[in-house]
Amino acid sequence: MFGGANLAADKIFSGLGANGIVMRRQLLGVLFSFSVCLNLAAVAQEKAGPPWWQHAVFYEIYPRSFADSNNDGLGDIKGITSKLDYLHWLGIDAIWLTPMFPSPQVDFGYDVSDYENVDPHYGTLADMDQLIAEGKKRGIRIILDFVVNHTSDQHPWFIESRSSKTNPKRDWYIWRDGKSAGQPPNNWTSLFGGPAWQLDPAANQWYYHYFYAAQPDLNWRNPEVETAMFDVARWWYRRGAAGFRLDAVTNLFEDPELTDNPLVDHQINAYGDPVQQEIHNLELPELHGVLQRLRKVSDEYDGVLIGETWTDTLDQLKLYYGQYGNELQLPIDFRFFAVGKISAPEFRKQIADAESFEGQPVYVFSNHDEPRQYTKYGDGQHNDQIAKLLASLYLTLRGTPIMYYGEEIGMENNDPKTKEDVQDPIGKLGWPKDKGRDGERTPMQWNAQPNAGFSQVKPWNPVDALYKQYNVEAERRDPDSILNYYRNLLSLRHTNPALLDGKYVALNQDDPNVLAYVRSYAGKYVLIVLNMSGSHQAIKLDLPSKDISAKSSKVLLASFKTPKRGNINKIDLEPFGAYIAQLE
Ligand code: GLC
Repeated sequence: MFGGANLAADKIFSGLGANGIVMRRQLLGVLFSFSVCLNLAAVAQEKAGPPWWQHAVFYEIYPRSFADSNNDGLGDIKGITSKLDYLHWLGIDAIWLTPMFPSPQVDFGYDVSDYENVDPHYGTLADMDQLIAEGKKRGIRIILDFVVNHTSDQHPWFIESRSSKTNPKRDWYIWRDGKSAGQPPNNWTSLFGGPAWQLDPAANQWYYHYFYAAQPDLNWRNPEVETAMFDVARWWYRRGAAGFRLDAVTNLFEDPELTDNPLVDHQINAYGDPVQQEIHNLELPELHGVLQRLRKVSDEYDGVLIGETWTDTLDQLKLYYGQYGNELQLPIDFRFFAVGKISAPEFRKQIADAESFEGQPVYVFSNHDEPRQYTKYGDGQHNDQIAKLLASLYLTLRGTPIMYYGEEIGMENNDPKTKEDVQDPIGKLGWPKDKGRDGERTPMQWNAQPNAGFSQVKPWNPVDALYKQYNVEAERRDPDSILNYYRNLLSLRHTNPALLDGKYVALNQDDPNVLAYVRSYAGKYVLIVLNMSGSHQAIKLDLPSKDISAKSSKVLLASFKTPKRGNINKIDLEPFGAYIAQLE
């Protein structure tokens, strides 16, 4: 391009003498700058590529239960660092660590008493620095859990706030007079049982807590709270955090008039409270302003924001991406999570919904609050096949998967057997209807040694009985294990352009048993066929109706024995079998 401009300029300006030379130089200067700008823009675009989180596979770790380096029965940061090679081998790009900040541990870390430190149970700031640095060496980023809605009642901010009605931090939390003597200000209830208000007898005022009474809600209407919390985000970003998962982010604002919530048809929940429509204390529009401003802070550090965004409808979920994509990059779609049964039509519908707009879908099957997928979706007969089937679903979709530690080895839920065994306070209160969340937080199963290799002493929460069969060491050796299936799948996902960037095209949309789709990219197609039934299925693909012509399929990965090459007019599937192939 440059050469061409030079030759043309020579011709035009050669007849103009000295003036011509000056004009020629000026014009070439302009052309040069213009071209440099274009080139720089192209380089920047190429270098920028898609944002780092777009192709990343996230992995949630509950620090208390992952690996115990100092043998006190509790997992810790050093333990996690010691397992980074394993996570790298598996194909993980980013870890979301649930809270490891100092905390009285009433809600196992979700009651933070200092946002800028590490709880001594889990280690030190130096351990965190080391985790971040060692992760970086292996291309694994660290995402922290930012508990934005509330602090611990032991946080110095709350201690000051409760010290007197005139304390400058009084308004950092939500204090109100009761309706009448002994009566809370309104009818709102806590998610964890009982009224959402706690009386402080000293000032005879109540403070609001959506979760435990030991977790007072911050008042985000006070700009000082926003400044202080954004400073926390900057502090961790500067230390090398790659982003945040925003805890209970739908809860940031409440109606200042404290209007009572309407009740739902006389229903009573597991804690004995009337079920409410929480229209006055959840999802208030003001929270989007906070998210837009937090996103600006986060963008300064190329960070990612994941949202714990429990929503009932797609329209509600969309709001969290922001009208201009300027809020959360990754709000979790809990509607997908809530499907709850292996059903091709149900999953098809959820995916179609998530595909109906621009935002990056975020798929999760289990986490530290909800039963593990192995138990939730297992039928007791084909559980291992089902584990591979679900992995094949969410790891081949366009979007971001967030795995939960241990799902890759088929860990099951191990609920407490008696009320006395329960550690999670809501499990004590809700027993036996709600057994709490201990069951999904059991120690990671590393090997068949005592305590599953998690610790040399008795762990804080019992190891699941199946650990001798389901553990990392045993499954690494077995080529057909759930673990090796995950690893192969993750490797495929990271290297196949259609799985990375391909468009989702649904196939055979009326099939009640088999979920089939292709990911299409630059004329290449990866086919995914998932048998969501407990019986054999043989399907013929409706490819021509999608303008896809292919003669055969070359298997990339399957969860059952099948010929390397298949006939697209008849794909045979074992019960709950998963089949992933390149169309040719
Ligand atoms: C979120 C967390 C949960 C915690 C609650 C209160 O829902 O995932 O574990 O108990 O917030 O912080």
